[in-house]
Amino acid sequence: MNTRNLSAAPKTGELKGVRGLMLTFTQDPFLHDESKCYKLYTDGLAVIRDGRFIDVGEYSEIVGKYPELKDIDVHEKSLIIPGMIDCHLHYVQSSMIGSFGKSLLEWLNTYTFPTESKFRDKAFADEVAKIFFRQILSQGTTSANIFATTFAESVDAIFEESERYNTRIISGKVLQDRNLPESLRDPDTEGSIILTEKLMEKWHKRGRQLYAIVPRFAPTSTPLQLQLAGELYQRNLDRGVYMHTHLDEAQSEIDWVAELYPDRKNFTDVYDYYGLLGRSSVLAHCCIVREDEWQTLYKRECGVAHCPSSNLFLGDGEFKFWEAKNPQRPVKVGMATDVGGGTNFSIFRQLGEAYKVAMLQSHSLSAVQSLYLATRGAAEVLHLDNCIGSIAPGYEADMAVIDLAPTEFAEWRLSFAEGIFEKLFVLMTLGLDNMNRATYVAGRKVFDRHRTPQFLYADGAK
Ligand code: GUN
Ligand code: ZN
Repeated sequence: MNTRNLSAAPKTGELKGVRGLMLTFTQDPFLHDESKCYKLYTDGLAVIRDGRFIDVGEYSEIVGKYPELKDIDVHEKSLIIPGMIDCHLHYVQSSMIGSFGKSLLEWLNTYTFPTESKFRDKAFADEVAKIFFRQILSQGTTSANIFATTFAESVDAIFEESERYNTRIISGKVLQDRNLPESLRDPDTEGSIILTEKLMEKWHKRGRQLYAIVPRFAPTSTPLQLQLAGELYQRNLDRGVYMHTHLDEAQSEIDWVAELYPDRKNFTDVYDYYGLLGRSSVLAHCCIVREDEWQTLYKRECGVAHCPSSNLFLGDGEFKFWEAKNPQRPVKVGMATDVGGGTNFSIFRQLGEAYKVAMLQSHSLSAVQSLYLATRGAAEVLHLDNCIGSIAPGYEADMAVIDLAPTEFAEWRLSFAEGIFEKLFVLMTLGLDNMNRATYVAGRKVFDRHRTPQFLYADGAK
């Protein structure tokens, strides 16, 4: 890689260029002819000013328009893609990835709840937030929809670290007032909503930060908490506030919801009844979903986060994207790691697992579909497809630089693959930890595998 500018930050109004093989999506390959869903620039140039793309095209066609453009990062043996987007994960579970468990509910009780109880301590939350961001950025993830936990400290810590990188994230206080240890439980239901509102006013749309109302899942909220959360969501939906929760992950969980909410038609209906479903609702997992539930998710314009490594690790169930993407009522789907149920922070590795989950059910997932789920598809789930997830004029300049020669073996193996999508499929399958070379956030290179230091905050600080 030839990088002329080693500092992270171009100055206000200055032009910055990023050049190389470049891929971006324009529409959904589950619903349209794959070959019409993306743009591939063989020697592309993205021109950036003040954190946004102002022009994108073949280098030879557009460079002449910008005589003042001097600062160009050239990426060879790489593929530049939009920064990847993780639609659902728990930063507060970073320290418990790979905890042995016998089932989802047992795993939550044994490892998750005690781990999250530690986030009352702001210093601990700050330490984990810092490690977490280094992990996602090193994997090429530039935006994420992140569970914090009960405590305001856990919310402040993740947003503060996100502000340092100027990343666009969604997070919020988790609402949970029953069926979990006292150390983690909201002591007072109405107080939990007041605290949510306070944090929402503090963080929603502060820079690139966005707020979500986050009931953990139906079993850990009283009907009153879901009702108040739903009312709050409906009052704030038009301001772009989110609702983020878990849905239809495992049969034992679905059975428990049926016992706790006997008057509701199904799990989805619990959330719908309390006003929690809308165009900015994100539902994680959705492995075991009945047709009437898909209909509701479609009607309410909700998005779904597919978490394959977590579903395999916890033995939950198998996501069916062909059901989600029924052309009669297509539901938006994006990729997610679900760390710490998920076993790593890499969206690329999730794609490898998603393929296997599909194959086990006699379906497959193409490289075009996969990369869409990691970028534009995920942006649609987060209702942000007008500002992130694409390399196009007007979009925020978040990018990942995929290494097409991450190891000696991978380079050799890829030499037998024809075309970029065949190569990408091999990379997803190999699941390497170092296949992201550099990460740009709003036009600034915040991560570079070959730079010292590898990470820089948006203001250039280490
Ligand atoms: N359902 C409720 N909470 C959780 C969680 O933390 N992880 C997963 N995978 N499922 C959940
Ligand atoms: Zn989760």
